[in-house]
Amino acid sequence: MKSDPIHTDGLDMAALPSHIAVIMDGNGRWAKKKLLNRVKGHEKGADTVRMVVRVCREIGISFLTLYAFSTENWQRPKAEVSALMVLLKKFVVSERQEMVVNNIRFNVIGQTEQLPEDIQGEILRTRDATRNNDGMHLNLALSYGSRSEIVKAVREIAEEVRTGQLAVDAIDENTVAAHLYTSSMPDPELLIRTSGEMRISNFLLWQIAYTEIAVTDTLWPDFTKDELVRILKDYQHRDRRFGRV
Ligand code: FPP
Repeated sequence: MKSDPIHTDGLDMAALPSHIAVIMDGNGRWAKKKLLNRVKGHEKGADTVRMVVRVCREIGISFLTLYAFSTENWQRPKAEVSALMVLLKKFVVSERQEMVVNNIRFNVIGQTEQLPEDIQGEILRTRDATRNNDGMHLNLALSYGSRSEIVKAVREIAEEVRTGQLAVDAIDENTVAAHLYTSSMPDPELLIRTSGEMRISNFLLWQIAYTEIAVTDTLWPDFTKDELVRILKDYQHRDRRFGRV
């Protein structure tokens, strides 16, 4: 882990969100602006991922969930999907030792069975190598779609009802949450989206019911640690009322 200083002046380290979720958007536009192939944008975006993981770990964030590949992303041109898979595999392999050393627990949420088998294998290895870590939980959302996650939960609950393990009247919000990929995590307190789009894009729909949203115009490859700190400071000035007065 490189240790470029992180300027945290003015940040209340005791009031950080425990869970940050990020929609990493704008790799393609970053590449286009520079007259480069879109894949170059994803490559530069992967460097930003490394930086954000390092910073979140160093300042003491407990859970970081990054939207790295959506179920809809399978519809991109084949060459781009393949390039993203190469980058994801590279990340899962090359960061394994870093995560072990830096006490990061790695996990993937999404339909991992849709991923190429070699990547599934590397994910299992990294998960396994980091399973006793508790410094920060890093979740990559891969082949992830929130609606299909909810459908999966509903099917599992229906099956429990069908087999008599669960009474219909006993189903509550906790039952649904317990069947999501995120069952062992707190809901994110902060969702960051880069590149200016005001959309949720099928990401953590259930989990972000009360999440603060920060949208920045910065394209993901240009996102910096100073901007992350600025967003965190802004978050700390918000009045979170959860529907109350
Ligand atoms: C959005 O850019 C980003 C993605 C589709 C996926 C995010 C992937 C990375 C950050 C790189 C690899 C990730 C890891 C974890 C190593 P876009 O292509 O939608 O950008 P655009 O909207 O400008 O076209």
